[in-house]
Amino acid sequence: MKIAIVGTGYVGLVTGTCFAEMGTEVYCVDVDRQKIENLKQGIMPIYEPGLEEMVNRNHQSGRLIFTTDLKDCINDIEVLFSAVGTPPDEDGSADLKYVLEVAREVGRTMNHYLLVVTKSTVPVGTAQKVKQAIAEELALRGADIEFDIASNPEFLKEGAAIKDFMSPDRVVVGIESERAEKLMSKLYRPFLLNNFRVIFMDVPSAEMTKYAANAMLATRISFINDIANLCEIVGADVNMVRKGIGSDARIGSRFLYPGCGYGGSCFPKDVKALIQTGRQNGYALRLLQAVEEVNEDQKGILFRKLEKHYDGKLQGLHVALWGLAFKPETDDMREAPSLVLIEKLLAAGCTVRAYDPIAMQEAERRYDGRFYYAKDIYDAVVDADALILVTEWKEFRLPSWPAVRKLMNTPLLLDGRNIYEAAELEENGFIYHCIGR
Ligand SMILES: NC(=O)c1ccc[n+]([C@@H]2O[C@H](COP(=O)([O-])OP(=O)(O)OC[C@H]3O[C@@H](n4cnc5c(N)ncnc54)[C@H](O)[C@@H]3O)[C@@H](O)[C@H]2O)c1
Repeated sequence: MKIAIVGTGYVGLVTGTCFAEMGTEVYCVDVDRQKIENLKQGIMPIYEPGLEEMVNRNHQSGRLIFTTDLKDCINDIEVLFSAVGTPPDEDGSADLKYVLEVAREVGRTMNHYLLVVTKSTVPVGTAQKVKQAIAEELALRGADIEFDIASNPEFLKEGAAIKDFMSPDRVVVGIESERAEKLMSKLYRPFLLNNFRVIFMDVPSAEMTKYAANAMLATRISFINDIANLCEIVGADVNMVRKGIGSDARIGSRFLYPGCGYGGSCFPKDVKALIQTGRQNGYALRLLQAVEEVNEDQKGILFRKLEKHYDGKLQGLHVALWGLAFKPETDDMREAPSLVLIEKLLAAGCTVRAYDPIAMQEAERRYDGRFYYAKDIYDAVVDADALILVTEWKEFRLPSWPAVRKLMNTPLLLDGRNIYEAAELEENGFIYHCIGR
């Protein structure tokens, strides 16, 4: 089977590579010439564990082809996935510009039956707009060619994308025809040989499922952060509370980690877009508005803790940051809590020394020398008046505390992810604060 993935970003590249891994012949199409040239030479646009090796192996075998031109491959394929970006518009709704551009290009260039699948995260009703755009382009050139549309939202997590795609919890597919169902079953069967977990449904429900999933996960994070903040005030320990409630099977403990707020390319954008879909349809999603409000506030919590410790006198302090990416195992800094923290620290007159195992290049691109890019965790803490843990990378879990302590001016540690033991830090002479305790 031959397919194309249009948009070779995070989702498109992982999707295309994993399909190729299962023997499908895949064209990965992108308008970004540099990205395509780099991929042909084995240079990855993103950091994702296991991706580079899998891309290069499948590219060398000829099953994974990179191109900038959809028209060169569109008549060689049966299924086309659109995985282009859907960034937030000014009002927070999803901007469908790229999705509809792809649909028009499909309508202009297709010459035989095609199943056109939207993989991007898009609001309910988008698949119908895609269908209309293709039909309009076909009508313009007087072409009567059959096609189907489908919705196949993606649930992969950055940092575990390959694993999530290769063995998904479930695959959600919205379809309108039996032919589309058959094609999608055929494509996904290799991933789910032992337990076929493709959930077929109508197209609007599939589109809504993706937003509802991300909204639910974001809600759990803001919920536990709100509880954590109250724990601090009333003298409870959120880590204990988390254990206490997580042991209830109806609640579970996953995605209930208190911290300094969620970020990334999906949760903030998707929560905003869903709120906007509600507004456009005359329904106020009050719960999600609060989820967003709590999260925005939480991104300032580490700065407020620092301010409190130093009684608001931050001018001239040296602050060390461990972690810049919005979560471990990725170099993605979009909407990361570190961005809010760095801006506040610099505005307050602090100097910042930061270290991240993977996101340093991305940080340099964003900050262009506005802070010191440390070589490792120890280099970051030299002369520091505070150390702030922002991202819970594994290599931060067990440092040599005596060495860290020796390098710092003031042994103040603010743990934004609750990964350390208070007693151990205090034994090593640190003043230790975390979230919700
Ligand atoms: N990143 C994630 O973790 C994740 C997870 C699930 C779903 N999603 C959703 O998947 C979609 C894609 O996200 P992403 O993170 O991969 O985006 P991305 O920005 O990494 O990649 C999008 C790619 O599309 C390309 N593109 C734009 N217009 C094009 C066109 N007309 N033809 C060909 N290529 C074009 C861009 O050059 C870019 O390379 C979004 O809707 C996002 O919400 C993302």
